[in-house]
Amino acid sequence: MDYIDEIAKLKKQKKAVILAHYYQIPEIQEIADYVGDSLGLAQNAAETNAEIIVFAGVHFMAETAKILNPYKMVLLPDLDAGCSLADSCPPQDFKKFREQFPDHIVLSYINCTSGIKELSDVIVTSGNAVQIVESFPKEQKIIFAPDKNLGGYINNISGRNMVLWDGTCLVHNQLTTEAIIQLKTEHPDAELLAHPECDGPVLKLADMIGSTTAMLKYSEKSTSKKFIVASETGILHQMKKNSPYKQFLVVPKDKTCSCNDCPYMKMNTLEKLYLCLKNESPQIFLNDNTIERAQKPIHKMLTISKKLGII
Ligand code: 13P
Ligand code: SF4
Repeated sequence: MDYIDEIAKLKKQKKAVILAHYYQIPEIQEIADYVGDSLGLAQNAAETNAEIIVFAGVHFMAETAKILNPYKMVLLPDLDAGCSLADSCPPQDFKKFREQFPDHIVLSYINCTSGIKELSDVIVTSGNAVQIVESFPKEQKIIFAPDKNLGGYINNISGRNMVLWDGTCLVHNQLTTEAIIQLKTEHPDAELLAHPECDGPVLKLADMIGSTTAMLKYSEKSTSKKFIVASETGILHQMKKNSPYKQFLVVPKDKTCSCNDCPYMKMNTLEKLYLCLKNESPQIFLNDNTIERAQKPIHKMLTISKKLGII
């Protein structure tokens, strides 16, 4: 079966839109209507006129799209496509954690469940986190969840002392300084681009730190011809496509491991995407109260981002 052709037909017939994250396999990125980072995807989900949203990403991203579009059908090709960061922060535990800091507001990274979004004051993504934190007065007390690496990075560059939840991304957190130093030694002319989900020592070595979109734009504009990319492999598809004469290297854990592939992001396939559009399943369902409560911090993020000129 020609999945690409069949998906295109179904998409037209059902007035559906396919939103894909940069970490999806290249074939999915190529058939998507929009490919982006978490911020771009949230903005697109908020503005789409489509009747059905097919989210080629992970569960928390499809949930975000549903929260922003309660009356639309939101499909996720594989319901098991989760996220280690989202899993690290169960709402019941986070509720108790938050109670220890009653005078703090809660800023949560978008990589969290709808249950955590409900308990948050503002949502942030890697594309706007620093600016949103800095839009609050310095004396504002903040809890940041669930990524301790992104939170630590923001604390460092903004001079804040946010209380951090102890969560990490299994893909970015396993990248080591040893592997990076080895690559830098072999390729001294390469610039190191790192996602802020990497841990502190890795970020210290980076020439540029940013979201997937920020790294992609930087690689296009930089005069460098070679880049070491401390992130997930999927982003290399757009990097190579947009800068075909530049060289991009991923950071290996060891010679045999493809650990930079997010196991959740890579669960989606063209076949699953075709089937979910055809069968209109699996679908994301959330209760009305969750949607109502989780909408507020997401809308707040979009409003602040517009005000700050980030989107
Ligand atoms: P961004 O899309 O914000 O760069 O985040 C990367 C990521 O890990 C998404 O799961
Ligand atoms: Fe979650 Fe990391 Fe995978 Fe992104 S790359 S979905 S943060 S596990």
